[in-house]
Amino acid sequence: MTDLTLSGPGGVFSADIAVPGDKSLSHRALMFAAMAKGDSLVTGLGPGADIQRTATALRSLGVSIVDDRVRSPGIRDWDEPTSAIDCGNSGTTMRLLSGVLSTSNIHATLVGDASLSHRPMARLVDPLTSLGGVITTSSSDTPPLDVGGATNVIAADFTIPIASAQVRTAFEFAALAATGPSTIDSPGGFRDHTERWLAAIGRGVWETDTKFRIVPGPIPPARYEVPGDPSSAAFMWAVAAIEPSATVTTRRISLNPGRLGFLQILESMGTTIEAIVTGSTGGDPVGDVTVTGGRLRGITIDGDLVASALDELPLVAVIGAYADGITSVRDAAELRGKESDRIDSVVAMIRSLKGGIEPRRDGFDVVGTGFLDGGVIETQHDHRIAMAAAVAATKATAPVVIRDAEIASVSWPDFYTTMEGLWS
Ligand code: S3P
Repeated sequence: MTDLTLSGPGGVFSADIAVPGDKSLSHRALMFAAMAKGDSLVTGLGPGADIQRTATALRSLGVSIVDDRVRSPGIRDWDEPTSAIDCGNSGTTMRLLSGVLSTSNIHATLVGDASLSHRPMARLVDPLTSLGGVITTSSSDTPPLDVGGATNVIAADFTIPIASAQVRTAFEFAALAATGPSTIDSPGGFRDHTERWLAAIGRGVWETDTKFRIVPGPIPPARYEVPGDPSSAAFMWAVAAIEPSATVTTRRISLNPGRLGFLQILESMGTTIEAIVTGSTGGDPVGDVTVTGGRLRGITIDGDLVASALDELPLVAVIGAYADGITSVRDAAELRGKESDRIDSVVAMIRSLKGGIEPRRDGFDVVGTGFLDGGVIETQHDHRIAMAAAVAATKATAPVVIRDAEIASVSWPDFYTTMEGLWS
């Protein structure tokens, strides 16, 4: 457990930086490649520990992953793992793999670290069992999960009450083994990476803006280039946003509409955004984004915008503290089930830095004073809290100590040095 003390450097900068491969798409690319029979090539995978968890899990099922080459016997010929699969801190590994395995003939137990062991898993049970999938949680609806060994996989039509891309994807992966087409529906705003990928390979089609039909059948091997992660780039965008005239460019970023909420928020708060689509990969638009800081004002964030900015809401609190007026986040009770209870950990972070913030049941209200002080941040085993605190530190009036700072490596091992590099 390493403490990191950050003080500045702060000030205006102009930078062009590379961000790691997208975490959501890296998990999906590995899983699609592993389900396929044959050789796939996946370049630009995210370097974080969460992606390593997915790779290790798939290896325990008999899939070979060496650098960017994936060789699989195909899901029907996967091995049964000889011990429990450890998903570490990675909720995406656990939820997506549960979907894949629930309707397979493989039995597996999925476990996680202290943070993941407290995260909600009941949300998977009804969607997956509607397909004849097999999944049980602990008595507190959390990991460990026992999955797989399905004998009768059937088609189903299911609507989930939350805009969760993880639950949608788990259902979609599971439904690939059904006897006929299934549909999944939910509120909007979610990242639709999986749906775009399935549509691109002819395994699904949109019925409405939110309802997707999955056409069962085999997955072909892939050649796929993972784009940059907007949820990682967001930390660099935020450093620019709180420093008037500072500017940062990030290239070849996934511009999936379900990932663009934070850019919309930054623009509404007074930041200048330039986003240019330069291509696409697996159905996802990809492009370059430049963010230039300006004078910030508080806004209210609610409805579908919440799902499309979900992982960036800790950053919204930091930016709100440096803005004029009140920034409110509502309809975001989902934050309570993340790597930490992100309403409590965001409130604690801002208060440690002597900012004004009040928790709500479903979000928080930040009083913008244009100022944060130094302090000690307990990261609660949550990479996005550690990294949001580092952004706050670039402008804080005294040093910020980040406890357990290396948790950032879950998504971005070189995060702190990359951030420092903005001024070099
Ligand atoms: C993810 C979906 C989101 C997001 C998470 C990654 C994904 O979670 O917060 O970091 O890759 O599908 P939910 O599905 O719980 O909204």
